[in-house]
Amino acid sequence: MQNSDTPSAKPGPAATSFLSRRERFLAQIGNGVAILVASPELLKSRDTDVRYRANSDLLYLTDFAEPETVAVFTPHDPEHRLTLFVRPRDAEKETWTGRRHGVEGARDRFGADAAYPLDELDERLPKLLEPADAVWYSLGSSQEMDRRVTSLLARFRLSRPRSGKGPWDVRDPAQVLDPMRLVKEPAELELMRESGRLAAQGHLAAMRMARPGVGEWELEAAVDGTYRRAGAWGPSYPTIVGSAVNGTILHYTSNDRVVEDGDLVLIDAGAELGNYCSDITRTFPVNGRFTPAQRALYDVVAAAEEAGIAAVAPGNTFQGVHDAAVRVMVKGLADLGLLPRGDVDALIEDGGYKRFNTHQTSHWLGLDVHDAGGYREPDGSPLRLRPGMVLTVEPGLYIPDAEDIPADFRGLGIRVEDDVIVTETGREVITRDVPVDADEIEATVGSGVMETAGR
Ligand code: GLY
Ligand code: MN
Ligand code: MN
Repeated sequence: MQNSDTPSAKPGPAATSFLSRRERFLAQIGNGVAILVASPELLKSRDTDVRYRANSDLLYLTDFAEPETVAVFTPHDPEHRLTLFVRPRDAEKETWTGRRHGVEGARDRFGADAAYPLDELDERLPKLLEPADAVWYSLGSSQEMDRRVTSLLARFRLSRPRSGKGPWDVRDPAQVLDPMRLVKEPAELELMRESGRLAAQGHLAAMRMARPGVGEWELEAAVDGTYRRAGAWGPSYPTIVGSAVNGTILHYTSNDRVVEDGDLVLIDAGAELGNYCSDITRTFPVNGRFTPAQRALYDVVAAAEEAGIAAVAPGNTFQGVHDAAVRVMVKGLADLGLLPRGDVDALIEDGGYKRFNTHQTSHWLGLDVHDAGGYREPDGSPLRLRPGMVLTVEPGLYIPDAEDIPADFRGLGIRVEDDVIVTETGREVITRDVPVDADEIEATVGSGVMETAGR
């Protein structure tokens, strides 16, 4: 939905998706009232803002992306199911920080049944809560709202004996929203495909401009520039460009080293497009040629990724994806002499591989890069995959620079990551516009004509 009165490259699901989502949410909170609060604005330093990004639950239900917003959902009131409290239009403030939709925009463009300036919240909230049996609010998400909700509950506790009105309980809307967000609608999947395609283009741009002497930061600029040029919000998390041993640091972001001949480069980067995140990792030799040790280890990780992806299918478990990838990595590590030779099951049981494989293989993906949703069924058993779920598959091996490791393998960090939709019949990988195959990677690295600036 183009919910903006200014031209925007931002795509989004149609207004009808938000309406039907809200109806599904309202149906599940019964006689409760739900309150969602916009994330606070953050300062980078002194009075400089960090670019604002609304919290995903609020975006999911309203598409309203402005700070200082409170959404109140009242299923008991057929005419006022969504009330938005927003920043009012303000000609002077808008010349400093940009256009606001205001109260009218909240109603007319975002389909709120009622909208008021935020400073009317204290006056109006008690009436909205009165008919409810529970307040659905994530305690701890806003100190200000925590105080408001607890003091209202205390007030109702005193008045209820005479009035018979007011909620008893506080419940977390995540209980309803997490499972909803876990299974994506067709319009969401379409945005995720688009986000995945764009992320792949960013990786391709970096791979093509890579050469010994390039700065990690230049590769970052190629990735992030690709996203911004396409009109995306930007990277869905700070882009990771780790060369040589920096590739073994999972959330490395300083990106300030000059890449040397013979180094591997690990780039972990995704785009945020139409609020939806992608998340890709590729690892490649900066000079376009893997050394034999790099190639051998790379092929193990790539095969592990294939095995993990092949395990994505409805009815299979989330844990099964990890197990499939781990099995291939353990066998590969043993074949390369990095683990003792022996029965693969025994080696998995022993856990020695965890020295090299330090993280899980997957996480949910969506409006957040580590998206909402549980990893277990309600009874605690391993979660079964269902069509519409979207997860990453990202096995990695990180070899310490240690005396007991054969010299050729020391300090290698390799991860391969793609984004996968669970379909009715199996899976759809949405991030393969950038190669994974080692030969194709070698053919791509340095193939571009982009000039790099050097240090
Ligand atoms: N880039 C964060 C992750 O892969 O989970
Ligand atoms: Mn990643
Ligand atoms: Mn990831």
